[in-house]
Amino acid sequence: MKLCRKVGEGAFGEVFSTTNSSGDAVALKIIPVEGCDRVNGEEQKTFGEILHEIIISKELSSLKEKKHNQTTGFIGLKDLHCVQGCYPPGLLKAWDSFKTQRGSENDRPDFFSEEQLFLILEFEFGGSDLENSNGQLASVMVAQSILHQVTAALAVAEQELCFEHRDLHWGNVLVQSTKEKEASFLLDGTNHSLETRGVSVRIIDYSLSRLEIDGLTVSCDISADEELFQGRGDYQFDIYRLMRQENGNVWGDYQPHSNVLWLHYLSSKLLTMTYKGRGWRGVKQARLDLQRFHDNVLAFRSASDVLYNCGLFQ
Ligand SMILES: Nc1ncnc2c1ncn2[C@@H]1O[C@H](COP(=O)(O)OP(=O)(O)OP(=O)(O)O)[C@@H](O)[C@H]1O
Ligand SMILES: [Mg+2]
Repeated sequence: MKLCRKVGEGAFGEVFSTTNSSGDAVALKIIPVEGCDRVNGEEQKTFGEILHEIIISKELSSLKEKKHNQTTGFIGLKDLHCVQGCYPPGLLKAWDSFKTQRGSENDRPDFFSEEQLFLILEFEFGGSDLENSNGQLASVMVAQSILHQVTAALAVAEQELCFEHRDLHWGNVLVQSTKEKEASFLLDGTNHSLETRGVSVRIIDYSLSRLEIDGLTVSCDISADEELFQGRGDYQFDIYRLMRQENGNVWGDYQPHSNVLWLHYLSSKLLTMTYKGRGWRGVKQARLDLQRFHDNVLAFRSASDVLYNCGLFQ
C-alpha cells in the first residue's frame, strides 16, 4: 500500500490509486455493503443494489475485445474483490492527505467494525477527471478530441448494448496523456480512427447507466429519487430533469437522446474550461467549431447520429 493515494470520492465510496500484484497502475473503488452503519449520511448499499454497476462495468470493459463494435473508451475492469474488516491504516493515511489537500465531503472511514463487508472494483487507472484537469489541458483542440473520443465510445456502446450513461458529468470523464497519435474504434464492423491530440479518454461511473444484454435490460430505477431531480446551480442538474422529461420517468426504456443531452452538457463545460495554449494558431477556429457543435448537437437522435452526421467529426 506504499504507493497508495486517494484520487476521488462519491457518496457511496472512496477511490484509491495503487499498483496491483502484476505491477499495473489501478484504481480501487471501495464500497461498503450490507452493513447497518450509515456512511456519508446514506444507508449502505446491498449486494443487489451494486450488482447492476458491476454488470455494466464488465460489459463496457469487454467492448475493447469485441469484433464488431469495439472501443477502449470505457474504463477497463480488471478484478472484483469482496473483503471484510476495518479500513487499513495505509488507506486512512491516504484519505487524510486527500482531505488536507483537496477537502472531503465524506466521513473519515475509521468507524467500520471487523464484520464490515466491502466490494472493491479494481479498474485500470484512467488518469484525472475533467473537473480536476481544468487549466491543465493543452488547448481547445484537445477539447475537441475529448468530445470526439467520448462520442465514439458512446456510439459503439449504443450499437452493441443499447447503452445510455445517464450521468456523464465532468467528474466521470478521465483523461491521461498518450504517445499514440490516433485512437481507433470499430462501429458496425467498420474501422474508424480519430486524432488523440496527445490525450486518451476513459468514461467511468455507471451507477445510473442502462444497457441490454440478449434482450434483458439492466438499469437503475431512479423514478422516485426526488433529490436527484432537485439540484440547482449547474447545467448538470438540469440534465437529470431533461432526461426525465424525455423518457416520462420510465428508466427501463432505451432513449439514446440522453447521451446527446450529456454531450451538450460536456461541450458547454469544455467551452468554459481554461487551456494552457490560448494564443496558438487555429485555436480561434477550433473554439468556433466547438461552439457550433454545442449550438447544434441537441438536434441529433443519439451519439451514433452525432458521430456519423455532425460537422465537427467529418
Ligand atoms: N479508474 C479510475 N482511474 C482514475 N481515477 C478514478 C477512476 N475511477 C474513479 N476515479 C476518480 O474517483 C472519482 C469517483 O469515482 P466514481 O465516479 O466512479 O465514483 P462515485 O462518483 O462515488 O460514484 P457514485 O456516483 O456511484 O457514487 C472520479 O471522479 C475520479 O476522479
Ligand atoms: Mg462519479
